[in-house]
Amino acid sequence: MIDEITYIAKIAGNIIREGFGKTLQIEYKTNESNLVTQIDKNSEKAIIEFIQKKYPGHSILAEENGEILSDGEYTWVIDPLDGTTNFAHKLPIFAVSIGLQKKGVTVAGVIYDVMQDVVYAAEKGAGAFCNGQKISVNSNANLQHSLLVTGFPYDIADNPHDALGIFVDLVKASRGMRRLGSAALDLCYVAKGVFDGFWEVHLHPWDICAGMLIVDEAGGKTTDFNGKEMDIFNPAILSSNGLIHNSMLEIIKKKYTD
Ligand code: IPD
Ligand code: CA
Ligand code: CA
Repeated sequence: MIDEITYIAKIAGNIIREGFGKTLQIEYKTNESNLVTQIDKNSEKAIIEFIQKKYPGHSILAEENGEILSDGEYTWVIDPLDGTTNFAHKLPIFAVSIGLQKKGVTVAGVIYDVMQDVVYAAEKGAGAFCNGQKISVNSNANLQHSLLVTGFPYDIADNPHDALGIFVDLVKASRGMRRLGSAALDLCYVAKGVFDGFWEVHLHPWDICAGMLIVDEAGGKTTDFNGKEMDIFNPAILSSNGLIHNSMLEIIKKKYTD
């Protein structure tokens, strides 16, 4: 299955790469920060056409097309271009993210870093891989020695759940905080041991489905902000190497409001 998901993620990636740096048709979604381009749509179209041809009994949950329901027990969860703001501003940090669930459990995930031509992949129970090489989270247990990453939702101007307060506290408590602009790649970098932890307040299933499995299979830990088991429909996510998880949670809980 991973080979097939990788195949279609790369086809979508080629569409995105060809559009990179070109003049784009941009539309706004919820506000003027929340963009969608024709490239997001073309990428998603290619992925959906492939799935519907090969797996007509499978359901699909895709960012730009919503839910396409079928009777089968499998659902594909698709972000055709994670990092649209970067893409639209010609910053080459974005990815295609495709997760596959069986009866609500993620069984496979692929994230394709388009401009670096790097594939992150995991199958449940079989480990996590970066371009075919096994990857694992790092072994740092000290938050003060950690490099963290986060993202801001499109409604950050309203400071939902005091995300900005949490940001300040975690910056102070760690070695540093980065903001790459692609939640999918943030999770891959946790899985690879580059970042020690990732948190964000308002994500969608397509942002995290594949990435959560990749972190899990790399030996990391993902929970909600109460430390409870996370499912992809929960918008607030904390993902880490496992060892700094509680230290991050303690800080998040002090500010987070439901
Ligand atoms: C966004 C990116 C970003 C995160 C936003 C997401 P999109 O996804 O993952 O890093 O901070 O919350 O919505 O819109 O580029 O697919
Ligand atoms: Ca996304
Ligand atoms: Ca997207």
